[in-house]
Amino acid sequence: MDPDAHSITKRETVYFMKTKAAVMWGETGEFEITELELDPPKDNEVLVRFDYAGLCHTDEHMRNGDLAFTPPMVGGHEGTGIIEEVGPGVKNLKAGDHFVTSWMPSCGTCQYCISGHTNLCDNGQFLLAGTMLDGTQRLHARGQSMGAVDLLGTFSQWNVIPDACIVKLEDHIPLDVVAITACGVPTGFGSAIYAANTRPGQVIVVYGIGGIGINAVQGAALAGAVMVVAVDPVEFKRTTALSMGATHAFASAEEAHEFVWNETRGNGAHAAIITVGLADQKVVTDAFAIVRKGGTVVLTSVSNPNLMLQIPGLELTLYEKKLVGSLFGSGNPHLDIRKIIDLYMAGQIKLDELITSRYSLEQVNEGYDDMLAGKNIRGLLEIAH
Ligand SMILES: NC(=O)c1ccc[n+]([C@@H]2O[C@H](COP(=O)([O-])OP(=O)(O)OC[C@H]3O[C@@H](n4cnc5c(N)ncnc54)[C@H](O)[C@@H]3O)[C@@H](O)[C@H]2O)c1
Ligand SMILES: [Zn+2]
Ligand SMILES: [Zn+2]
Repeated sequence: MDPDAHSITKRETVYFMKTKAAVMWGETGEFEITELELDPPKDNEVLVRFDYAGLCHTDEHMRNGDLAFTPPMVGGHEGTGIIEEVGPGVKNLKAGDHFVTSWMPSCGTCQYCISGHTNLCDNGQFLLAGTMLDGTQRLHARGQSMGAVDLLGTFSQWNVIPDACIVKLEDHIPLDVVAITACGVPTGFGSAIYAANTRPGQVIVVYGIGGIGINAVQGAALAGAVMVVAVDPVEFKRTTALSMGATHAFASAEEAHEFVWNETRGNGAHAAIITVGLADQKVVTDAFAIVRKGGTVVLTSVSNPNLMLQIPGLELTLYEKKLVGSLFGSGNPHLDIRKIIDLYMAGQIKLDELITSRYSLEQVNEGYDDMLAGKNIRGLLEIAH
C-alpha cells in the first residue's frame, strides 16, 4: 500500500490512519459521518478498504433501538473491498486480495463450529458488543474508542476486521454486485433451503420482500418449489418477486391464505418464511395458520426484544407444526457465500436486479429512509476514497 495515498503516518511501530465512517453515536439516532483514527491490525486481523456496502435492515434496527448495542459504533455489515495489509498470524490472505465479508467470525473450535453450526459460533457474543475478538478496539474519535457492527463496520472507507470474516474472491468477480452476498442473499437463500428445507413440488410462502425475502423467494424457486407465494403490501416488491421466482404475489396475508388454501385443497403450505422488516405477533399467527400438518414456520426477521410470541399449542402438538428461528440462513456462511457467488456467475440466481439504488457514504441515512419507504429491494453504498 502507498502510505501517502491513504494518509497513513508511521510513528515508530504504530500507524495512525484516518477513515471516514458512518457512526451511531447513541443508542438510537441517525448515522453521523465522522472522521476516525484507525489502529493497525493485530493478530489475525486485516486492514481492509471497503468499496461497497449493502444496506441491511438489521442496522436500521440499531438506528431505531430495536436491537441493543454498545455505542458509539460504526454501522454496516455487508461489504466488499480489497485487503490493504495483513496482521501477524494471518494465513492464506495477502494485500491486494479481493473479498466479501461474512459477519460471523467462526472460531472453528467451539462446540457449535465443530458440530457444523458455524452460524451459531460462540463468537456471536462479539457481534454487537463493540470490541474486537480480543476485547480491545481499533477505532477512535472525539476522545472515545468504538467498535463496529458485527466486527465489520462496512460503512467506513477503511477498517480493521478479523481474518475469519473474510471470504476471498477472484479478481474478476464484480465487487459491487456481490456486496449483498455478505448477509441478505445467504440469509434469505438459507432460510428457504436449510431452515424451511424446501423440496421439489412444495408450496412456500414468503412474508416480506426486501433484501432477505427476495432471496428466500429465489432459494425456494431454485429448490424446486411448485408454488412460491410472496406477500408484501408494496406493489413494487410484489412485481419484483414475480420476476425473481415467485409464482404468485399478494398484498395481504389474508389474500395469500385464501389462495393457498384453495390451491392446496385445504392442506396449506409446506413452509412459511417470515422476512418482514420487524416481526410481530400477527405475521407469526398468519404464518402458523398457513402451514399444513408437519409444516414449518421460519422466523428470520428480527423482533423487538419485548415481543413474546404466542402460538396455538394444540396445533404444535397434534399437527406437528414447527416454528424455527434462522440466523444467517442456518448454514455455513463462508461456504454458502461462495456457493451463491458460483450460482450467480453461472447465471442461476439473480443479484444485479436486487440492487435498486446506489448512494454515497454521506447518503447513508437517505438510503435507510428509502428502505423504510419501500423504495428498495436493496440499497448499496458506493464508498469513495
Ligand atoms: N436472521 C438473520 O440472520 C437476519 C439477517 C439479516 C437480516 N435479518 C432481518 O430480516 C428482516 C428483513 O430484512 P431486510 O433487509 O430484507 O428488510 P427490508 O426492509 O428490506 O424488507 C422488509 C420487507 O417487509 C415488508 N413488510 C413489512 N411488514 C410486512 C407485513 N406485515 N407483511 C408482509 N410484508 C411486510 C416491507 O414492505 C419490506 O418490503 C429484518 O428484520 C432484518 O433485521 C435477519
Ligand atoms: Zn444483515
Ligand atoms: Zn465457533
